[in-house]
Amino acid sequence: MSEIDALLQENRKFAPSREFRREALVSDDSLYKSAAADPEAFWEKQAGELQWFEKWKSVCDWKAPHVKWFEGGTLNASVNCLDRHVTGARRNKAALIWEGEPGDRRTLTYWDLYVETQKFANALTKLGVKRGDRVAIYMPMIPETAIAMLACARIGAIHSVVFGGFSPESLRDRIEDAKAKVLITADGGYRRGTIVPLKRNADKALEGCPSIEHVVVVQRRPAAGGDEAFAEMRAGRDHWWHDVIRNEPAKCEPAKMKAEDVLYILYTSGTTGKPKGIVHTTGGYLTGAAATTKLVFDLKEDDVFWCTADVGWVTGHSYLVYGPLANGATCVMYEGAPDWPEKDRFWSICERYGVTILYTAPTAIRAFMKWGDQWPAKHDLSQLRLLGSVGEPINPEAWIWYQQKIGGGRCPIVDTWWQTETGAIVISPLPGVTETKPGSATMPLPGFSAALLDANAKEIKVGGGLLALTRPWPSIARTIWGDDARYVQTYFSKWPNRPDLYFPGDGAKRDEDGYYWILGRVDDVLNVAGHRIGTMEVESALVEHPAVAEAAVVGKSHELKGQALAAFVTLREGFQHSSDLRDELRDFVGEKIGAIAKPDDILFSADLPKTRSGKIMRRLLRDIAEGRAMGDTSTLADPNVVAALKEQYEGKE
Ligand code: WT7
Repeated sequence: MSEIDALLQENRKFAPSREFRREALVSDDSLYKSAAADPEAFWEKQAGELQWFEKWKSVCDWKAPHVKWFEGGTLNASVNCLDRHVTGARRNKAALIWEGEPGDRRTLTYWDLYVETQKFANALTKLGVKRGDRVAIYMPMIPETAIAMLACARIGAIHSVVFGGFSPESLRDRIEDAKAKVLITADGGYRRGTIVPLKRNADKALEGCPSIEHVVVVQRRPAAGGDEAFAEMRAGRDHWWHDVIRNEPAKCEPAKMKAEDVLYILYTSGTTGKPKGIVHTTGGYLTGAAATTKLVFDLKEDDVFWCTADVGWVTGHSYLVYGPLANGATCVMYEGAPDWPEKDRFWSICERYGVTILYTAPTAIRAFMKWGDQWPAKHDLSQLRLLGSVGEPINPEAWIWYQQKIGGGRCPIVDTWWQTETGAIVISPLPGVTETKPGSATMPLPGFSAALLDANAKEIKVGGGLLALTRPWPSIARTIWGDDARYVQTYFSKWPNRPDLYFPGDGAKRDEDGYYWILGRVDDVLNVAGHRIGTMEVESALVEHPAVAEAAVVGKSHELKGQALAAFVTLREGFQHSSDLRDELRDFVGEKIGAIAKPDDILFSADLPKTRSGKIMRRLLRDIAEGRAMGDTSTLADPNVVAALKEQYEGKE
């Protein structure tokens, strides 16, 4: 691949305010400098913030492409998240402030979480779960989900959380691949006022899963006034959560885990084929998650931290459970949809609990923009002091809206780039130090190092190219469960002469200040008449137009240009689509980026096809644009969206 032409210019800059800086944990660049001078010493210091049974003998053993961190050390993740807080001032501090979608609420202190985790750990042991066994977790966003994860960690079992929005087939694939012995689920969870029948889905999945010996079911429904029709319990195999913990003591000796022992597996989709079971370890992962939570979110003792991600994604693992709890923080957890019962649910939660740090995704931010400013305006958001973004590039317009309408112009924004495989945030501002630019995740954090390369691993100082991570970090995935060859092939084979370079699969540009602008997955990068264009840049330009709420741009083959652009556009409330507006948008992109980036086709649509995690499924849009038969639509949040789009696209002109 040659260079990517970086066409969109964004020149706004925001330095941390004097007030923020004064109180910030890190307020000058000395940490960047010392970490760059000796990264291993930096990570050793971060690991030292955790509680270890035995200290490590070596810090980093790097035999590319495999690495080991903190060998010789032993620890337990649940001890780090619970035990060490209950002996001190945090004993009665809120660990989890939970709100169900119907409005039910629970607050668990560190002591509560400590007790519940140990009871459930004992229950798992009784069900035959041993160190190294896999336990699948298919749950709604309720406190028991975090408890189940921590209980696995307590006894050295490996958890594999499967997002509750996945189908029975997807659950089955993941259970099969990991050969899980026990499944933990619930009768249901609430989403937009309806019930997601998790146990029924699980029963379907288990029809083909001989490895599962027991199923533990949390009774979520009656607590909110329902019946029991959602869980048919099979005798011998299925057990209610409340029954299995009833007589268990609140004391469970933690397993002494080696630093490199597996803490969890989390499945993530590859470009093709079956999902990859990303493997994370105990010592390195926890070090990365804990350190980045503290540094990136400037976490203080009295913060109320709300990461809105589902626990089924890595963001929920690292920044709802392990990172914040290892730091003894207070976390908010919300079960349901952001627009239930009204479009201000997030803001009512922020107001009610005095949320100080909010970490959410661009797709949510764009939805909030579309719904209108009146919803956040109804609430007092003055406790917020820091905002975070994760999951995809955030368009500058959405960034500014987030800063103004949610942050009141007062809160720094941390745009955090990372992936399931990195375990922890890699590229992000440090909020008390880094000058931010809307749309840029800025620079690698202390302890991480990145570079922009061309296809021959030649460094590109300024311009577009392939992102590479050039040094191992403690929370890097160690392998793909059961398929190490695929691990090496996917992440360490991009530059054959440099088997030490990690390739995350993203394209990026680097500006004169050394800032990284993530352009998206390299398969979202197009070649239009010999110019490489990141679809993200065209999308950002479109979203800058006052009529546009959301845009997705894909390539379609073109006789002359090689590839041409097709844009799928959602309008803001109050705007009507028309052929005039279509022309206007084309010209607008032409103005912002250049005629080369003008989409050939613009299709107006009420909605865009998204995965349940909110990522736009460009693969399907490409199928539509190319007039092809549609590929797999089973991971779509709403399969109807795409059928309607296809019909409309084919009838266009
Ligand atoms: C991919 C990883 C990180 C946890 C959630 C997603 C994209 C992620 C950003 C960002 C631009 C981003 C990348 C990355 N991505 N964060 N701040 N700016 N792009 O985890 O499902 O493993 O996806 O999400 O393309 O490779 P994931």
